[in-house]
Amino acid sequence: MAREKKSMIGFDPLAWLDDSSDSKSAPEDNKETPAAAKKKPAEKQKKDTANMIMVLGHSIDETALLKGYGLATDVLEETVVDFYDELFTRYPAVKPLFENTEEKAQAGKLAAALKLLVDNLHNEDALKATLTVMGERHQGYGALPDHYPVVAELLIASFKKIIGRSWTKAISAAWMELLVAGAETMCAAYKDEIVEVESVEPEIQETESVETLVDSGHPVLHLNSIQDISKSQALKHDMLALINDNDEIDIHASEVERIDGSALQLLCALFNYAHQNNLVINWINPSDILKESAQILGMQQILELQ
Ligand code: HEM
Repeated sequence: MAREKKSMIGFDPLAWLDDSSDSKSAPEDNKETPAAAKKKPAEKQKKDTANMIMVLGHSIDETALLKGYGLATDVLEETVVDFYDELFTRYPAVKPLFENTEEKAQAGKLAAALKLLVDNLHNEDALKATLTVMGERHQGYGALPDHYPVVAELLIASFKKIIGRSWTKAISAAWMELLVAGAETMCAAYKDEIVEVESVEPEIQETESVETLVDSGHPVLHLNSIQDISKSQALKHDMLALINDNDEIDIHASEVERIDGSALQLLCALFNYAHQNNLVINWINPSDILKESAQILGMQQILELQ
């Protein structure tokens, strides 16, 4: 969706680290003349020396990374709570992915994920193998490649918020680099989207949902009776076609008998986009099932289905 494009696609996960930060932890930065070192306050001289290692093709300051790990393991529960709060407030469209998630169990899962990354920093084969399996699972959860930078940024921001000043910019930079490296390997395990598109394409012909006629004169997005993940690609295709050229559209939804989280998530993205871009969306006879499903997932407000 266009809105996601603005906030996610093209997102530079490191952009928020400013130039003046101590995140410039390349070994060169730590080279200094003895005279220069003498002039520095004692605290500066005690600063940990960066130890750059290569992990999955990324250069990472291991010293900062391990220091961050030590700090993070003490505050996992608070961090998870803060992280989910921020994630769902800022990106409500991802909430359905976590509909079966017990927040309390997530601290343990986060602990396991961080430990796995840290334990295998020097064992790239094991790291790759585990991340590949995790990537396959995440594709099944509905996690999109565009979600990864957002999750990485918010997780690191939560650690920073909770830990405070001891969580330095060098630590943020090291963790961002590791999470980006991990995300790349996880996403590389995703099944080729082209295969999915090809398998869905005939369906686009059969279940064509965009109509340009209607009483109101606006183009119509026609939701299918079963609107699930198998039709999400087609739905996204139709939504993109509609928003490019129109100021007002109708969604015909009287026939919806079943709609899953992936379809609702797409619709939320459409409404968020509409909100930001003055696109008017009119529901035409939304079915009770659609309204109930949106209500169960807490999306009725975003979808203006109250
Ligand atoms: C480097 C990035 C990430 C790491 C290391 C990671 C790690 C994990 C781990 C260890 C689990 C536990 C279950 C499993 O291993 O399959 C998990 C579950 C999950 N993750 Fe991630 N994740 C990452 C990114 C994401 C992203 C970007 C999303 C999408 C918003 C996401 C959504 C989920 C969901 C929906 C679950 C299932 C939660 C449940 O157990 O109910 N993850 N993740």
